[in-house]
Amino acid sequence: MTVPVALPTAQTFARAAAAIEQGQLIGFPTETVYGLGADAGNDRAVARLYAAKGRPRFNPLIVHLPDAGHAARFGRFDRLAMALAEAFWPGALTLVVPRRADCGLSDLVSAGHPTVALRVPDHGVALALLEACGRPLAAPSANPSGRLSPTRADAVAEAFAPGTVALVIDGGATRLGLESTIIGLLDGGPPLLLRPGGIPRAALEAVAGPLTDPGARDRDGMALAPGRLASHYAPRALLRLNATTVAPDEALLAFGPTAPAGGRMTLNLSASGDTTEAAANLFAMLRILDRSGAGRIAVMPIPARGLGEAIIDRLSRAAAPREG
Ligand code: TXA
Ligand code: MG
Repeated sequence: MTVPVALPTAQTFARAAAAIEQGQLIGFPTETVYGLGADAGNDRAVARLYAAKGRPRFNPLIVHLPDAGHAARFGRFDRLAMALAEAFWPGALTLVVPRRADCGLSDLVSAGHPTVALRVPDHGVALALLEACGRPLAAPSANPSGRLSPTRADAVAEAFAPGTVALVIDGGATRLGLESTIIGLLDGGPPLLLRPGGIPRAALEAVAGPLTDPGARDRDGMALAPGRLASHYAPRALLRLNATTVAPDEALLAFGPTAPAGGRMTLNLSASGDTTEAAANLFAMLRILDRSGAGRIAVMPIPARGLGEAIIDRLSRAAAPREG
């Protein structure tokens, strides 16, 4: 037995909505990566989500909504938050805003923080699922905690034991391939870049002005970016960054037109040097190179332009020393 995968038909959405109503978990595509969704108002369902991922309980979840009109029920939006939502939703932007006391969301979603992370995804399947179940969906990336995020339905189905996930809706490969950018807007302070992601910094700064890196703690001493563990997104193989050569026993993750020869296997994120193309290929190519059996993956330097900032962020976490 494996986790079932189904194409996005009317029957599939009805089945998925019934499962969500029963507090079960559904894998579904968004424009960034696949999410593992649960009813954000159901404590038991959200607890099941943490358990299925092996996710630390201090790491809060993003709540997915069908449109921006719903967002004000859950969080408090100041003018800047409204301007960002207007400019980028639906899309790969998550806004962390003060949580409304009467929002009806499970406390587990915020993991004890006085804030909530909200996003309206730009994907027909995700929006149809939200519509079909009529509930806000808490949805982390559909990978076991600390591992590569999935960009295809089969990667989700393979990552979880039968019975933990009711169904994965197959919407093909995700368009952006990297998680959303997360911006924190708290108590009129400057906009904080909590995670670089699918929308480049320059596009966001054109609306929000300069983005600030989060200080470690907020007023109450809570971590502002609780999910930013040093080691994350890790393949099994070790990573060697900024490589300009490749050893015979290494696999090579190349970028640009001049990849060095040698190595067990080479995949090129973007032969033309396009960071958007590279972002879309990142997790899928890391997965393939990891399966080549190489103990180490050499990764060529990636420029910080466009989505390069987010790619470098994921690679440096994937390369970080691991616990245990
Ligand atoms: O593109 C995405 O964002 C995907 C798709 C499925 O929407 N989701 C995703 O979820 O990447 P996840 O759980 O893998 O990452 C959510 C991040 C974590 O780093 C978490 O710490 C942060 O969002 N987060 C959630 N709520 C937060 C809050 N209240 N304050 C600060 N960070 C928060
Ligand atoms: Mg994740």
